[in-house]
Amino acid sequence: MKKTDWVTLAAMCALLLFTAIVLPRESFPAFSPISRGASPSANAVHAADDGLALTPPMGWYPWNIFGEGPQNEKLIKEIVDALVSSGLKDAGYAYVGPDEGICFFRGADGRLTTNLERYPGGLRGLGDYIHTKGLKYALYTDAGTRTCSKAMPGTKDHEFEDMRQFAEWRADYVKIDWCNTEGQDIVKTYTILHDAQHAAGRPIVHSLCSWGEGYPWRWAAAVGHLWRTTSDICTPGQADWAGAMEIAFANEKLAAFAGPGHWNDPDMMIVGMPGVSDIQNRSFFSLWCLMAAPLIAGNDLRSMSPAAVQTLTNLEAIAVNQDPLGVQGKIVWTDGVISLWGGKPLFDGSQAVLIFNQGRHPAEKRVAWPEIGIDAAAACYVRNLWAHETKGPLTGGVSVRVDPDDVAMLRISTKNDFPIPPIMIADSYLISLRSSGSDPQKLAGSLTVTNKGSVELPLWRVGEGLPPWLFVAVSKSGKSQTFTNTVSTAGLRKGLYHAVVRADNTEPVSDKPMSALYYDVDLEVTRDVGRI
Ligand code: GLA
Repeated sequence: MKKTDWVTLAAMCALLLFTAIVLPRESFPAFSPISRGASPSANAVHAADDGLALTPPMGWYPWNIFGEGPQNEKLIKEIVDALVSSGLKDAGYAYVGPDEGICFFRGADGRLTTNLERYPGGLRGLGDYIHTKGLKYALYTDAGTRTCSKAMPGTKDHEFEDMRQFAEWRADYVKIDWCNTEGQDIVKTYTILHDAQHAAGRPIVHSLCSWGEGYPWRWAAAVGHLWRTTSDICTPGQADWAGAMEIAFANEKLAAFAGPGHWNDPDMMIVGMPGVSDIQNRSFFSLWCLMAAPLIAGNDLRSMSPAAVQTLTNLEAIAVNQDPLGVQGKIVWTDGVISLWGGKPLFDGSQAVLIFNQGRHPAEKRVAWPEIGIDAAAACYVRNLWAHETKGPLTGGVSVRVDPDDVAMLRISTKNDFPIPPIMIADSYLISLRSSGSDPQKLAGSLTVTNKGSVELPLWRVGEGLPPWLFVAVSKSGKSQTFTNTVSTAGLRKGLYHAVVRADNTEPVSDKPMSALYYDVDLEVTRDVGRI
């Protein structure tokens, strides 16, 4: 990426950070690395730079296709494997885990315990499996007394111990439902949960699920990273195209409330589910990308059609969703049948545009540059993000023909260049090291992160506050960056040590955080070790 582009990006980031200051998020009081017995660090990470969900979260959740019954460890692991083998991981999908799959109970001591019948390896074991595949761990709970099916306990009156348990299970994302909450104040409840989550000392994406109840877009940016704006998109197992479109159009109206670190969530995707055609899949995906909606797949990844895979992994469409400016696009013109969606500037100065035909016949639509905020006299290149073809330069506008239920998804730029923003893929999020001797040893383990986007990122900077036994060096090699973790066992007592490592990617001109990466380092010391 050229220096001038970075300057533009820096200015835009500064603007976004200003937005974040207007809607402040509270800081993590104690996310920094903890070794056993260490007291939480006072090092606070501030609102704008917790670095979580700076672009809409991408992942997979079981509810849409499976509902509660079939969920168990075997199924989730098969899905995790399919996420990797299908190419979805390489396209940026990262968060995965059970939804309401009866995965835990509350024991007599009040603590949550894994339902070992369904998850024999334990919920921590499932998290480790997910992390070693380079994916992030998502769990589910409820803010009330029970979850929606009433089969699992809710967090009411157990907020702090439950959030500690999720942190111990090494969750990276928690969806918190709003069933069985009679008499609870929604803002207070989600604020307590947010405080509890931060007190637990692990950075976790916090996904609120009140289906629009309590107007979360007005207040939830201070206590969460995303909030459901609408009711469930389908009943498990069967997509509902008309219902999904109602949800899309309701979510569209809330565009002003979304931005980096705080997103409107119109629910998990129906792409690839029974009940939707290939064309509808593509249109649905385009709408979710343009609305900067979380891209949480909800289909059975083990048995996807090639067309569904192609849709879900279209990097040119994903680039619109994962754009670092994080603007939610909206309808800029409609006649009730054809809608023109725009208002989505991208980091390189281009504009993303969608023309959607909800009629019964093919339609022709002329998009004039001023309708999408471009000077009429400008000569522009028009990239079709599904045909992967570029036309131009064109002045004045462009005409497109769109079939029923279909979209034309375009990216319009004065340059014949359509860069893909950073999309980071990790080979693992867990480094496990074991020392067996009683003499001091140095052990090393590494994690490699690859940028699938076309722009280069500057070198990651590892956060301060690592425990004394851990040293992390970052080495750059092309678009992959490797974090080498060296631990010294000198003077350590027998036991398990754990640290959450935070690495920042800071924007080079303004020095503001662009993104943050968190991963775990585990060290097992099997015998007391002497000093050197
Ligand atoms: C609610 C949520 C769904 C799903 C179910 C689980 O309905 O909106 O997304 O999590 O609960 O019971």
